[in-house]
Amino acid sequence: MRRPYSIMRADKQSGHIDILYKVVGQGSSLLATRKEGDTIQCLGPIGNEFTISASTTYPLLLGGGVGIPPMVFLADELRNIKDLHPFVIMGSEIPFPFTVKPSKILLPGIPNDVIAAMPLLDDWGVVSRLTSQQGYQGCYQGYAHELAEKWVESLDDTSGIEVFACGPTPMLQAVAGFAKKHTIPCQLSLEEHMACAVGGCAGCVVPFKENDKVIAMKRVCVDGPIFNAQNIF
Ligand SMILES: Cc1cc2nc3c(=O)[nH]c(=O)nc-3n(C[C@H](O)[C@H](O)[C@H](O)COP(=O)(O)OP(=O)(O)OC[C@H]3O[C@@H](n4cnc5c(N)ncnc54)[C@H](O)[C@@H]3O)c2cc1C
Ligand code: FES
Repeated sequence: MRRPYSIMRADKQSGHIDILYKVVGQGSSLLATRKEGDTIQCLGPIGNEFTISASTTYPLLLGGGVGIPPMVFLADELRNIKDLHPFVIMGSEIPFPFTVKPSKILLPGIPNDVIAAMPLLDDWGVVSRLTSQQGYQGCYQGYAHELAEKWVESLDDTSGIEVFACGPTPMLQAVAGFAKKHTIPCQLSLEEHMACAVGGCAGCVVPFKENDKVIAMKRVCVDGPIFNAQNIF
């Protein structure tokens, strides 16, 4: 069976896509044995996409662990849209899979010593900050949603903020709680185990809520992976 992976970057001109993956088990270990020039069998892209509301001016992107790659993709898409000011926060409990550098961009509301950033995003002019519990230099000591909350609470006006998040379920649950507390719209990209990836096996279903009541089961592979936070938590 295939394994689900996010697209981190896509070059429409050359037809290349980049994925960034962590070796965790059999499938990703086999993938790691592939060499440049080898071919692999893929199916995709599958599922839906983040949608930016007309009222959004401050997209707040939160990526945790293997939820980091889709946030890079989203930042790449958003950076050239006029009047949007994306802010990306990435959390990891293992060393970040890129060379961490101090950001050249300061952001009011974020402590000056929380300065570690992803250089690619800095080069794009997109503000990013990193969080970890591991004491990495320049990173916020805590979770991504906690730094996001610090920033939100420093603002007089939070209208225009919309949260987009991807990461493990406990992180997404915490992000949904933070967004609800501050009445900020929030879209989540769920991580579920997948088998067929075409909507046939129901191996990836999650309960879908309306007004806090489960009204249906939705397939993450074709109905998602992106859902509004209030439909999930
Ligand atoms: C929509 C989506 C996008 C993803 N994007 C990325 C990405 O960009 N980069 C990346 O490194 N990983 C990503 N993942 C997670 C990736 O699919 C799993 O790490 C991979 O399937 C593990 O396969 P394996 O055979 O190596 O491990 P397995 O032997 O199958 O499992 C090893 C460990 O990983 C856990 N695991 C397996 N599958 C998943 C899963 N789907 N979600 C969460 N935990 C899982 C298992 O519980 C086990 O602990 C994504 C998952 C989803 C659903
Ligand atoms: S993986 Fe089969 S329905 Fe989603």
